[in-house]
Amino acid sequence: MCGIIGYTGHRPAVPLAVKGLKSLEYRGYDSAGVAFVQNNKLTTVRAEGKLGNLESKLETMNISIATSCMGHTRWATHGAPIERNAHPHKSWDESLAIVHNGIIENYQELKDQLSSKGYGFRSETDSEVFCNLIAEGVKQTGSLEKGLSWAVTQAEGAYSVLVMEESNPNVIYGARCACPFVLGVGQGENFVASDVPAFLAYTRNVVFLDDGELVRIDANSWEVKNARTLEPIEKEVHHIEWDVQAAQKDGYKHFMLKEIFEQPRVVTDCLAGRVDWQKQEVLLPELGTLPVPKRLHIVACGTSFNAGMWAQHLFESWARIPVSMEIASEFRYRDVILEEGDMVLVISQSGETADTLAALRIAKEQGIPVVGLCNVVGSSIARESNVTVYTQAGPEISVASTKAMCSQMAVLLLMGLSWAERKNLLDASLRTEMFDGLRKLPNLLEAELPRIREDAKRLAREYSSARSFFFLGRGVGYPLAMEGALKLKELSYIHAEGYAAGEMKHGPIALIDPEFPTFAIALNDQFFAKVKSNLEEVQARAGDVIALTNPNSDLSVKHKWVLPDVTYPLSSFMVLPALQLFSYESADYLGKDVDQPRNLAKSVTVE
Ligand code: F6R
Repeated sequence: MCGIIGYTGHRPAVPLAVKGLKSLEYRGYDSAGVAFVQNNKLTTVRAEGKLGNLESKLETMNISIATSCMGHTRWATHGAPIERNAHPHKSWDESLAIVHNGIIENYQELKDQLSSKGYGFRSETDSEVFCNLIAEGVKQTGSLEKGLSWAVTQAEGAYSVLVMEESNPNVIYGARCACPFVLGVGQGENFVASDVPAFLAYTRNVVFLDDGELVRIDANSWEVKNARTLEPIEKEVHHIEWDVQAAQKDGYKHFMLKEIFEQPRVVTDCLAGRVDWQKQEVLLPELGTLPVPKRLHIVACGTSFNAGMWAQHLFESWARIPVSMEIASEFRYRDVILEEGDMVLVISQSGETADTLAALRIAKEQGIPVVGLCNVVGSSIARESNVTVYTQAGPEISVASTKAMCSQMAVLLLMGLSWAERKNLLDASLRTEMFDGLRKLPNLLEAELPRIREDAKRLAREYSSARSFFFLGRGVGYPLAMEGALKLKELSYIHAEGYAAGEMKHGPIALIDPEFPTFAIALNDQFFAKVKSNLEEVQARAGDVIALTNPNSDLSVKHKWVLPDVTYPLSSFMVLPALQLFSYESADYLGKDVDQPRNLAKSVTVE
């Protein structure tokens, strides 16, 4: 999730932009850069790594007092995190520069069209394609405003973009399509940024830009228009009172809560460019470079392991691939039998987990192809895997993993469909059901999340004095139950165990009494009848039950927590935030450190 700032006014703009980028550091980044006009020449300065590297570079340069500047911190999606791929990007003719956040889905198609018109490319990024597209728009329409508007009609995807011309740097244009963008209204100066903290030191007057809007700023004026028709749009100026910390969390109390609420966006971003909705096909070219595995070993830790176990069900039933699930710290010390035709799939949000990395190296030493599913571009696992598929969830700040698991599940589901397709096993009705369901999922999730949170809050309070919890499920509900238990223990320090519901009577049920509640996943799917009877066994021992279920389910438990009917297995995308929010609300109510639970680190780089 890149950070953007654009400034035009009366102050030295380059240091101001760098300072603005610093207050967006929480978004995560791996390179940074600025663009301004110096001696009538559009100049970009970019550096890999942290903002300190950019500052050191700027110090060695004789920078004139530019009063307009665009700055960017990049979280790599297309192309490695190296200087060449860092923003700002200049158009091939160097007449304009852009900073861009988001993904241009049809960038390959646009790149081919632009190449045939003589445009060249200096990076591997979709952003540079967008930059040349705007330059082409200016050529066709005669102005930057119309050129940007034309480019918006050609580009598909989710983005926010700022553009500046060498010939008129004191006017900056921007456009928003499903990526955050705000305008800061100052006196004799104006700002556009990905988030409010970037300019909070200078103004608290903010205009929230909406999707499909184009913005123009100069030092003394600003205007917002419909990005396609260029009709003016009246916008309200809000005065905000938040401090910088609250602003970084977008008004949410914790990063964890913010990240849970980002999940609809995360699903959209994961699917971006990976689904041909018309042909109902999965586009995962990375995966296509390797044969469909005869046998798959999924290796991961913690939440990533739970995501893998969830996908095991889909790979086996859709693509008929035998799957073994492996905890990385066990796999690395077992004499695992790996044979020709096998594949190892390592899953890691951070891409740095020591045990998962060790497992990857063992597989590679034995000549077994490794696919890495990672969130962090350029991480060790991403670099060392034979093929890397990125989850595109954006940086996860909260130590407890939430949106990363959602993104892993979304990509794993696509992998399952893709392998089933390649083996000619993809049933037509399943295909239609999954593509229709996936298309609707982000909006449905977005609409439901506030209500799910209210239910979570109520239940968390009621059960705040519980000392132990069982989480039960079957099928894909089992890894979700494990995830529910993991989240509850790591955040609220309440003892919780995730169990396959059918295992209860083989021992654990002895623990059930009125003080030991059970949290069950009992959706209207093929597992419902069996889970129901397991819950009857629990209740027969005076156990208290909360069940995540669907409307009209034939279940009699103390708390039916009703989620909307969503087709299997997409229903898991509703269950996951409910489990996350229950843990979040429990921990917050109990006064725990939600974003940084005790004894835990975000990246476990030691054994
Ligand atoms: C739990 C959590 C951990 C991680 C685990 C693996 O909320 O975050 O269980 O999932 O440490 O980390 P990655 O995915 O970075 O390999």
